[in-house]
Amino acid sequence: MGDLFVGRNSHLSALNDQLAQVIAGAPRLVLVDGPAGIGKTALIGRFLAGHPGAEVLKGCGEENETGLPFGLLDQLLSPHTEQAVPRPPAADAPTVGSRLLDVLGELQTRNAGPLVLVVDDAHWADSSSLQALAFALRRLRADRVLTVVVLREADDPALPEGLRRLLTGEGALRLTLTGLTAGEVCELAAASTGPLPPTAVVRLLDHTAGNPLHVKALLEQVPPAHLMSATFLLPAPLGYARLIEQRLAGCTDEAQALVAAASVLGMSCPLHAAARLAELKLPLPALEEAVGAGLLDETPEPGGPRVSFPHPMLRATVYRRLGPVLRHALHRAAAGQSDTAFGRLQHLVHAAQGPDDALAGQLADLAHAEAAARRWGTAAPLLRDAARLARAERDRERYGVEAVEALLWEGRRDEAQVLFDELPGDACSTAHRYARALMLPFDGDIRQAEPLLRDAWSICDSAADPELASYIAGQLSFMALSLNHGLQAAEWAEQALRLSARRASSTMLRYARMTGYGLSGDIGRGLAVATELPDASLVAAADVDLLCGRGLLRMWSGDLENAERDLREALFICRDGPMMLRIIAMLEMGLTQYGLGAWEEAALCLESAASLTDDTGNELHLTVHAAAARVLAARGDYDRAEWHLDQVPDIPVTPGTVMTESRRVRAFLAILRGQPDAAAAELLPLLEADAAEGLCEPMTAPWRDLLAEAFVGLGRLDEADRVLTAFEALAAARGHRAAQATDCRVRGELLAARHEPDAAEDVFRAGLAHAARVTAPYERARLQLALGELLRRTGRRAAAAQALQAAHETLTALGAVPLLERCARELAACGTSGAARFRPMPPDSGPVLTPQELAVARLAASGLTNRQIARELVLSVKTVEYHLGHAYAKLGISSRVGLVARFPPGPVSAG
Ligand SMILES: Nc1ncnc2c1ncn2[C@@H]1O[C@H](COP(=O)(O)OP(=O)(O)OP(=O)(O)O)[C@@H](O)[C@H]1O
Ligand SMILES: [Mg+2]
Repeated sequence: MGDLFVGRNSHLSALNDQLAQVIAGAPRLVLVDGPAGIGKTALIGRFLAGHPGAEVLKGCGEENETGLPFGLLDQLLSPHTEQAVPRPPAADAPTVGSRLLDVLGELQTRNAGPLVLVVDDAHWADSSSLQALAFALRRLRADRVLTVVVLREADDPALPEGLRRLLTGEGALRLTLTGLTAGEVCELAAASTGPLPPTAVVRLLDHTAGNPLHVKALLEQVPPAHLMSATFLLPAPLGYARLIEQRLAGCTDEAQALVAAASVLGMSCPLHAAARLAELKLPLPALEEAVGAGLLDETPEPGGPRVSFPHPMLRATVYRRLGPVLRHALHRAAAGQSDTAFGRLQHLVHAAQGPDDALAGQLADLAHAEAAARRWGTAAPLLRDAARLARAERDRERYGVEAVEALLWEGRRDEAQVLFDELPGDACSTAHRYARALMLPFDGDIRQAEPLLRDAWSICDSAADPELASYIAGQLSFMALSLNHGLQAAEWAEQALRLSARRASSTMLRYARMTGYGLSGDIGRGLAVATELPDASLVAAADVDLLCGRGLLRMWSGDLENAERDLREALFICRDGPMMLRIIAMLEMGLTQYGLGAWEEAALCLESAASLTDDTGNELHLTVHAAAARVLAARGDYDRAEWHLDQVPDIPVTPGTVMTESRRVRAFLAILRGQPDAAAAELLPLLEADAAEGLCEPMTAPWRDLLAEAFVGLGRLDEADRVLTAFEALAAARGHRAAQATDCRVRGELLAARHEPDAAEDVFRAGLAHAARVTAPYERARLQLALGELLRRTGRRAAAAQALQAAHETLTALGAVPLLERCARELAACGTSGAARFRPMPPDSGPVLTPQELAVARLAASGLTNRQIARELVLSVKTVEYHLGHAYAKLGISSRVGLVARFPPGPVSAG
């Protein structure tokens, strides 16, 4: 029967059609689904055979390797790149996804033909790889890549949500395979046993529902005469297993031993590994026999051949047939031969015969070492196995909770839920409550989590179980941080660190402590936590949490240049994860760049961070989207800003649980749009709740200035005065120049509204003096604009024009479109000779580039190659080319020389 392939013409032509679209320059995604043995793998083999010019990246999920992080991605990438794929457990999904993008880019540069990325049996692939794959697929724009994902069931729960959405969304084509037709079965039979009469074909078809695997098994198993005899009862199609057993039985002991050993090592393994496990000194004759019997395939490779099973069902049959004694012995021996701690423990888990505390302890130790390096993805499956093997219920519960926690840090909410549901022990226990509280914020329900944690804390005996107490205190600290309760956050973090020193490096407690003090207004105390930390360039990777903390505190204190140095280094250290810190560093970096006036870089950094939080289901989701919205609003990209705001839920203000970020940004947007009533509506609830600690800190959560501005706009001047006075007092007490500059601007507007122009002018000038002592280009420009407006209205046109021109220059450099329009109108109204030069947009701006186009264009202008840009921005090279092409077209240029002229190097001047 050999390689005969029948039917499937419509499926093949659909695949060919997709490939034609790919060749024309559009990436395509195809889902092939259908039950075991229906011919999914065969269909793809046939399709690929028809396109020898296509470069193929192929990987296949393996039933016993679903716990091995990035196993699948390693299969896909290692034949195509000399640079080692970040091996498990070195990296997180976005990092490895970027690596995939990188390799796809390289291959497209090297080859003229299309790329086909095949993921067979994706239901068995490790979830880290599938997340990395989804991450990469979402970022293909103009790549010549056809991706084919094979699944037995399209709604397999093992599939990460992101990938499922992609596969079942509008952008993907779904090909569902059903049984072969009578004609096709006839063709298949003719090639194997000779022509069959129609009755026999119908019997075969009825019996197998046209499943080719079963049809072929029956044709091999049942003599043709029996197939034709109406009285002969056909064996169950699952006689397949029997067929394999027969084939095995026909082999020598050596060949049987080789196949058995291979089945313990996975779907494929190096021949020498299987031979060693089977204790075969000269394995080649055994291999030849097994290949001849169709039990194994052989692929020559440098360093020795590799063996693999032709079909997962075959491997499963062999493995299940081993029997407990042999299976146990083989796994134990394989453990001894494994060269990684992870592999060794994996085999010992399979060899276990029941609870085994020693093994559970080893698993937990390795998991803790991984967690200490913040590699949660590897820690999680180890802890899950430890939980299954521990003897005492208390230990099983503890490891289970730790596994839930590790999965949540990785952003794998669904898997965490499954483990949580399986947790042993009393649902009212401290550990259970703790785990439940961990899950809640991921559903956006932070308010219920807090009382649950306090509950757990109150019943927890910290002397008897300091570790658990430390977990709870740590979580209370993170919760307090997101609720703006700075001092509480710092104190809980200290408590947690006192209870368990081990947690210092494995979590972000030190960061929470620093940030907490900063939020409470005590920057100095926060910085004191990291006094020992050296210059950014000398910080060790283990201390990256402290570096992020210092960067943030420096940003809050207005020391933006040093904040940027810290954060740049932190980003470099975190480039391979952990995800949580990487997103934090990106968020802080974006805000710092915004403060420094590098708005394009800021928008890009924050948009990338937002897309990473979307990919990983991260708790920082809200903060990051709000920050991105703020920068985009300031640039006048209101639609995009609103899109980001739509991504975060509307959280009602209730006492003790106030989140200010999204409200602040909504109000900022409303003020830019000239809607002070909408701004006031967003912020008034904060005023009512402002007794809560941390809510009024001018540098960490500035909103009173916005509310005062809204009140001035509404003519509610006394209220504006009251709100502003409180803000001024704190800003002065903290000595925060940028906040004081803001104060002066709003105070000046208030005085102007009260018809006190002289006083207003003095205050604006005082504000400019504050702004001159820090890097605050936006605030400086806003003060100049406000001063210019005041001067014009009081008839001093020449002086007004001078202030407005200064404002215009800075606003142009920033790209602050909304205020630029206002500034240009004022200048025009001044009627001075030079004013006509100033139009709402910079004269040569032409059409507006999207943030991504701008970012790509800027980096290209700075001399980076497309590949370097792709790395920097986490995009595929083709996507970079795509954006660059659009930017060229919009700017009417045709080369990088034109770009350099458009985007000369150098940041916005600080002076
Ligand atoms: N159209 C076909 N013509 C001839 N043989 C076929 C056809 N489709 C499948 N087969 C044969 O049927 C067997 C099972 O097919 P295949 O391995 O492709 O199934 P599958 O859907 O990939 O199953 P699984 O879900 O177990 O991976 C193979 O031996 C294959 O060669
Ligand atoms: Mg298959």
